Amino acid sequence: MNILITGANRGIGLELARIAAARKHTVFATARKPQEASELATITPHVLTLDVSDEASIAALGTTLADAKRFPMLKDGGLDVLINNAGVSSTAKQLAELTSAELTRVFMVNSFAPLLVTKACVDLLRRSKHKLVLHITSQLGSIANNTGGSSYPYRASKAALNQLNRSLAAELGPGGFTCIAAHPGWVQTDMGGPKAPLTPAQSAEHLLKIAEESDATRNGGFFNYDGSKLPW
Ligand SMILES: NC(=O)c1ccc[n+]([C@@H]2O[C@H](COP(=O)([O-])OP(=O)(O)OC[C@H]3O[C@@H](n4cnc5c(N)ncnc54)[C@H](OP(=O)(O)O)[C@@H]3O)[C@@H](O)[C@H]2O)c1
Repeated sequence: MNILITGANRGIGLELARIAAARKHTVFATARKPQEASELATITPHVLTLDVSDEASIAALGTTLADAKRFPMLKDGGLDVLINNAGVSSTAKQLAELTSAELTRVFMVNSFAPLLVTKACVDLLRRSKHKLVLHITSQLGSIANNTGGSSYPYRASKAALNQLNRSLAAELGPGGFTCIAAHPGWVQTDMGGPKAPLTPAQSAEHLLKIAEESDATRNGGFFNYDGSKLPW
């Protein structure tokens, strides 16, 4: 399959790229600074520039991917899987720490960018038989599970992502798309920290299984990394 992964220069995204390439998928991987993504460059020749907080950068990615001379496999087979993985956390945890600028930054990367990247890729996705959009969300985006509060920007941005995914699923589902949101688990990355129980490779293995195996029956769903449903 042809798989596009955003934020693939480190963390979960890097392992998704590594495992997908090992399974003989064709991996298109994005990084803000491809020239610094040396490990990623050993995994795939298709490392593309993308800053998801910049709408022009997202549009440029769409144009690049649609270049049939450079990527004939995408013209022929389409893009099978888009994994919107790039994300940010926030040090603003309590009400007193919130600013409009910080809320906007986190919402742009975690909520709006996945939607805009999907928009930029939708024509290539339509060409594929699989047509899967996988948003890497967080269980912290579950409103039902939010008993502890805190982390306003992060929680709310992932809840918004889950909601936006529902709308995408409703709009694109009739055209054969499957749009899902999956929590990767608590993972040992720069974001998750060293105490997390899952390695990035373990998480990525599960997420890729979800990407490979999900069909229309899962459209619009919010899942844990093991494929079980999470409460909204
Ligand atoms: N780790 C966990 O325990 C955990 C739990 C729940 C959900 N998640 C979600 O899983 C996803 C991956 O997280 P991770 O743990 O792998 O985090 P990470 O190690 O901090 O990596 C984040 C990735 O996102 C990229 N990114 C951030 N801002 C970007 C931007 N403006 N444009 C393009 N790329 C950008 C980073 O690129 P740079 O190197 O350029 O910054 C990096 O590649 C995120 O969506 C996160 O919210 C993680």
